[in-house]
Amino acid sequence: MTGLLPRDDTLYDPAFVAGLFDRCASNYRWWSAISSFGFTYIWRRQCVRLLPRPGPGAVIVDLMAGTGELWPHLLRHAPDLATITALDISHGMHLHAVDRLHSARATRITHIEADALTTDLPEHHADLLTASFGLKTFSPEQQAILARQIARLLKPGGHFALIEASDPHGWALRPLYRAYIDRVLPLIERLFLRGAQDFTMLGPYTRNFRDCTHMAAALRAEGLTVTFHRHFFGCATSVSGHKPA
Ligand SMILES: C[S@@+](CC[C@H](N)C(=O)[O-])C[C@H]1O[C@@H](n2cnc3c(N)ncnc32)[C@H](O)[C@@H]1O
Repeated sequence: MTGLLPRDDTLYDPAFVAGLFDRCASNYRWWSAISSFGFTYIWRRQCVRLLPRPGPGAVIVDLMAGTGELWPHLLRHAPDLATITALDISHGMHLHAVDRLHSARATRITHIEADALTTDLPEHHADLLTASFGLKTFSPEQQAILARQIARLLKPGGHFALIEASDPHGWALRPLYRAYIDRVLPLIERLFLRGAQDFTMLGPYTRNFRDCTHMAAALRAEGLTVTFHRHFFGCATSVSGHKPA
């Protein structure tokens, strides 16, 4: 994307979000690792550690899976027979994820191209459910729909952990953090990715999203038990919990 940033009603249009990630797909993995100074790797690992270790044959649903950055953490956490059902709306991210699957792990991962808000994955499908960095592109209303889907997909007794980059309000270094997200990263993207302004969207999305507080309330409203966590002064927040048996 180039030019002016879109209005808020466009920001949360699933077709717009899918197009944005289609364009980011080929650079996503390295950009996410380098621009976050490796924090996204640490936060994914911390997110997975919020989950109990599942028994053999467990089904793990990874929503907004992107190019599968969470899968190595999940497969290390789960015993050999666990499988992952991964879902993402972006065709580009899907293609990159599938390319990456030409390895021993391929038999343990099913990757579905679909909208998490409307997916017809069966009820009570998941022993564990995860989402890393896939919440910020949902409006508050969409987060309520997503929470309903998560409650529907989890088996009774099933656990979830969701993590997202957040806006660390109250942190003394927040002005520096915001300057990095809002000014430095867009400049680097324009210089190195031929004027693109796609990763630049992280700025408005994280500012609007703020943190996982609203998602936590939406999940509680669906009857799930929820614990809220802050990571590195609130630069990321997460929610974990379970569906009562
Ligand atoms: C920032 S990436 C995160 C990818 C990966 N989980 C990670 O840890 O880096 C967000 C992903 O959410 C996906 N996404 C956004 N809205 C979605 C929706 N409504 N349904 C499914 N996937 C969606 C995007 O296509 C994108 O791949």
